[in-house]
Amino acid sequence: MRKAQQHAIWGRRGTFILAATGSAVGLGNIWKFPYITGENGGGAFVVMYLLCICLIGLPVLVAEIMLGRRGRASPILAMQRVARESNSSKLWSLIGWSGVLAGFIILSYYSVIAGWTLEYVTTAARGGFEGFDGVAANNTFTALQGDISTLVQWQTAFLCMTALIIMFGVTRGLETAVRILMPLLFCLLVVLLGYAAYAGDFAAGFNFLFKFRFDQLSLEGLSLALGHAFFTLSLSMGAIMAYGSYMPHNQSILKTAATVGVLDTAIALLAGLVIFPIVFANPGIEPGAGPGLMFVSLPIVFGAMPLGEVFGTVFFLLVTLAAWSSTISLLEPAVAYLTERFRFHRVAANLLIIFCAWLLGLTTVFSLNRWQDLSLVAGMTPFDLSTFITEQVLLPLGALATAIYVGWFMKKRPLRRELALDSSRWFVRWLTVLKYVSPMLIAVVFVLGIVDKFAG
Ligand code: PFF
Repeated sequence: MRKAQQHAIWGRRGTFILAATGSAVGLGNIWKFPYITGENGGGAFVVMYLLCICLIGLPVLVAEIMLGRRGRASPILAMQRVARESNSSKLWSLIGWSGVLAGFIILSYYSVIAGWTLEYVTTAARGGFEGFDGVAANNTFTALQGDISTLVQWQTAFLCMTALIIMFGVTRGLETAVRILMPLLFCLLVVLLGYAAYAGDFAAGFNFLFKFRFDQLSLEGLSLALGHAFFTLSLSMGAIMAYGSYMPHNQSILKTAATVGVLDTAIALLAGLVIFPIVFANPGIEPGAGPGLMFVSLPIVFGAMPLGEVFGTVFFLLVTLAAWSSTISLLEPAVAYLTERFRFHRVAANLLIIFCAWLLGLTTVFSLNRWQDLSLVAGMTPFDLSTFITEQVLLPLGALATAIYVGWFMKKRPLRRELALDSSRWFVRWLTVLKYVSPMLIAVVFVLGIVDKFAG
């Protein structure tokens, strides 16, 4: 790393792409995308999701990278600097605050789910999936949800893993992890795709994912598709802005964002193409099985395929590592803020945040068992509420504010300077979408989603 304006800049050109892809690709792609697609009927949801990625996610991704790089600081301070430069209100730094808050809440429940994958690593290694059918897979998953001590043990282990890598230095650990493990995860998904095509009902899975049926469109689906587009690209959580602040100037933001977007979407679709053929070939699993979908469908495959123990162990390990490269990016904004503003030592800042996330994560653990029927608001458990507040409230609002700020309030000169490496035609296209299309769509979907939630 090289120091400039008292803020480190990544020396290697590819580091930003690697880090941003590491942040984007995670449980959202492999665990979440298939299950929310399954719960929302398939093809129509996928179309809405892809539209949200293109018309909203990618333009906001570009805006966030640009803001981070322009501000060269943690999201909160970066927004203050950028706002000062354009003579706009200091209140725009609320974008940074909301990002840090959303990232923290997401970290709390994300680590619980990452804990499930760690439990599955050990089960796969023991050959525990041998001869699994839909019923056995369901029973194993349900038993895990009720086992508080195991859930807490793995949640803690996962957060300790995250703490450990941060103490050993993020850049090197992260670069190595992403450079080697991401391609490996991709290859393994391709192998599993081959197996799913051979042993599963590929035609049914493919149709489910890509056949558009008008009657499947729903307001809830649209609102979830929007929230997921932000979640999967790690937007509105400060993560991308924090990474953008380390990005060197000689790198094109538009191209970089497009690369990250394509990789992220490809992995999600690939995961769907692996999971649904298996779901349709196995009685006892429903596409709408909910959060357990990946955890009940894939063990059947690993229990039946040759060398399933090895494939199963490596697969769940890679998913855990993909989750881990995402949580590192969730920590970064808050840690950077505490070190800049209160002169915290990096390690102390990390440990403090990880401990608080662990405490909040316990509410997610209990929501899976003891508090299953506890309704805080509108029938939501604390876990449901955490996902609702982040994915359907904070992320859309943060992205809306970002789009409005960059589109309408930021001065054109600094904006153009950050995107100087990109052709002016693409610059104008991007700005037009960000100015008019993205905010309008986000606002409409956000309002309809909230009305649907509380009126329904
Ligand atoms: N994008 C990650 C995923 O899809 O799993 C999740 C995530 C990572 C969300 C980092 C937020 C974030 F800051």
